[in-house]
Amino acid sequence: MKRLIITIDGPSGAGKTTVSKILAGRLEYRYIDTGALYRGVALEAISADINPDDDAGLENICSSLKMKFVYGEKGLRLISNDSNITDKIRTPEISMFASAASARPVVRNFLLELQRELGREKGVVFEGRDMGTVVFPDADVKFYLDASHKTRSLRRYQELESETSQTLKSVEKDIKRRDKNDSARDIAPLKAAEDAVIIDSTHLSVHDVVDRMMSVIGNMRYIK
Ligand code: DC
Repeated sequence: MKRLIITIDGPSGAGKTTVSKILAGRLEYRYIDTGALYRGVALEAISADINPDDDAGLENICSSLKMKFVYGEKGLRLISNDSNITDKIRTPEISMFASAASARPVVRNFLLELQRELGREKGVVFEGRDMGTVVFPDADVKFYLDASHKTRSLRRYQELESETSQTLKSVEKDIKRRDKNDSARDIAPLKAAEDAVIIDSTHLSVHDVVDRMMSVIGNMRYIK
């Protein structure tokens, strides 16, 4: 019997975060949102006035950046150089910067090691873009969660509605741009691993998706 590494990849708005949290809760596993790490790098770089294609500047940021996740009453928190940045990394500006900077090898290499370290003890649900393809190619169970562009845009818009003045149209445009950036980049592009179970959540509720995942995992032996 062993604790599993479970990966959930997919484009933005597919429901990865919600599903990963519930799945991890059911299994009593840890949940790790790897996009938050790219957002953490983006926040630092923006504060230092560095462009997303400035490799030397990004390398400098990464070399002095210490990020870790802490599990508290309010859920997962991201600590960056001793400050809690959890509530600062969800802006549209950071989303776009993180997507652009995530195409740079210097950023990906820096985060690759960190992510693998976080998986060392197993018993983790990892959410991201390349978790099943690059970071954990030997993961025990891999999922690729997708949904139509319209559905994903609407979900993201509803999520952001109270915090942003963005219209549905501009959210649709941002998602399209990020999809393109994330799938077209040379290293670790967003795609389903060959051995991933693909789930289209367009017409499924969160609980339907989690149930499907649990039935795949249920065929495996795991310990809590
Ligand atoms: O999941 P998210 O929207 O918070 O991720 C923000 C950006 O980070 C995303 O547009 C691409 C990048 N990312 C990545 O390249 N690889 C990952 N494993 C996770 C996120």
